[in-house]
Amino acid sequence: MVHRPVLLDEVMEMLDIKEDGIYVDATIGGGGHAEAILSRLSERGTLIGLDRDEEALKRVAQRIKDRRLRLLHLNFADMDRIPDLTQVKVNGVLMDLGVSMYQLKDEERGFSFYSDAPLDMRMDRRSTLTAWEIVNTWSRERIEEVLRGYADEKRAGAIARRIVQARQKRRINTCRELADLVMSVYRRRGRIHPATRTFQALRIAVNREIEALQDGLKAAVEILARGGRLCVISYHSAEDRVVKFFLRDAERQGILRRINKKPITPSEREKRENPSSRSAKLRAGERI
Ligand SMILES: C[S@@+](CC[C@H](N)C(=O)[O-])C[C@H]1O[C@@H](n2cnc3c(N)ncnc32)[C@H](O)[C@@H]1O
Repeated sequence: MVHRPVLLDEVMEMLDIKEDGIYVDATIGGGGHAEAILSRLSERGTLIGLDRDEEALKRVAQRIKDRRLRLLHLNFADMDRIPDLTQVKVNGVLMDLGVSMYQLKDEERGFSFYSDAPLDMRMDRRSTLTAWEIVNTWSRERIEEVLRGYADEKRAGAIARRIVQARQKRRINTCRELADLVMSVYRRRGRIHPATRTFQALRIAVNREIEALQDGLKAAVEILARGGRLCVISYHSAEDRVVKFFLRDAERQGILRRINKKPITPSEREKRENPSSRSAKLRAGERI
């Protein structure tokens, strides 16, 4: 089965594409949403695709050859600094948060707990902080905070203790070593691997995802034209909270109008066909 971008029809409806407009896909990833946006633009339309992962951009450049598409290696936190966009405003911004299937499946990147790859988890290989550094050098308290704050991990204290105990004997080098440590705290495994939350929390910390999201939302509002749409898909509660409160506060300040007060979630069919869409929540606002 071909991979289908998450909430595609719903995103397209919310973006309400103007055919000659300028759009920003702030997380171009595999380019799935981008292709759909391009298919609705006229020859005069423009799509700017951003990603902090250079490999994602290279893959998209190979796959989508379209002169209306401009690709930039940029953290979306800085989208208000896109060259040439300091004067012109855009008609829509899409942020489809988190990691892509390509990143998860590329063992060498260190996102997957079944791999013997070094603990890395950087989306942008130019940045310096890695999961290895957090696991092997941060204090027990800080690790516990990361696990609880970014993934609501109920056994955060026990896992952090186990990590600190283990690293006193020898460094924790690979994804599998860390996953096994988490497993040893849980003993039993259910439908979801017990290390899922630990890996999610570390990834968020390594990539400073919450800070980037907060800055990215502000930057998006800066570049949106009046009537322009901001669509954000989040995948876990720490992210969704940020998006929800940002849109609510922006509405109170008269900057945005929320299009949907309740988040839009995938249909049962989409969840069945694409399990990674399970936790997706789409929220959208229109610039006033
Ligand atoms: C879920 S994927 C996007 C999938 C895409 N919508 C598609 O249809 O293929 C998320 C992408 O966003 C990128 N990303 C995450 N945080 C980012 C940030 N702060 N700035 C730019 N790109 C980011 C990741 O590198 C990844 O490629």
